[in-house]
Amino acid sequence: MRKVFSMDETALFKLTHGLYVLGAQDKNNSQRLVGSIVDAVMQVANKPLVIALSCHNRSYTKSCIETNGRFSLSVICKNVNPFVIGNFGFQSSEKVDKWNHVDYILKNDLPYLKENLAMLEARVVQKVVYESNTLFLAELVACSNQNDGVPLTYNDYRDYFKNDVIKAFTQFKQKGE
Ligand SMILES: Cc1cc2nc3c(=O)[nH]c(=O)nc-3n(C[C@H](O)[C@H](O)[C@H](O)COP(=O)(O)O)c2cc1C
Repeated sequence: MRKVFSMDETALFKLTHGLYVLGAQDKNNSQRLVGSIVDAVMQVANKPLVIALSCHNRSYTKSCIETNGRFSLSVICKNVNPFVIGNFGFQSSEKVDKWNHVDYILKNDLPYLKENLAMLEARVVQKVVYESNTLFLAELVACSNQNDGVPLTYNDYRDYFKNDVIKAFTQFKQKGE
């Protein structure tokens, strides 16, 4: 049977994305670190090296990037601790110091997961505001290919990882941390 060609948004699940830990400095206190999980990241130019990052407009990290104009990305490995995704993806940096719950390193005052496959630092050069999201175009300032390994994808998260993430985060909350 032929499918109707209209607006079946599940088609978007067939687009492939990675999964990254986004880091930034708090807009109110540069010593404080904020961050979230993002999948909406891609390279969009070679010269200069430009990446696109889309943050939803309620994200506290997004508001900090708007103020400071810079951010870090840690590329996550397939065997990452599922808690990392829940920690950065299921709560807001406005109230929680998420980086205190993981091992991290600082480069140029921006945070990276200690166990990462690659690290990228970027400086915002342009932004586009949509009703739901803000798109940042950002030039790479520094990047490092850290470790061998297979990057975790958003499809991995949807296919088999999400339950582990929910379980790990629920256990963490039950411990009252
Ligand atoms: C698998 C996954 C993918 C996500 N992708 C994005 C994304 O691409 N952009 C975004 O702004 N938020 C994304 N989120 C949601 C944020 O990580 C989440 O809202 C987070 O709590 C925001 O934290 P913040 O308020 O500290 O910025 C994703 C969450 C998950 C679990």
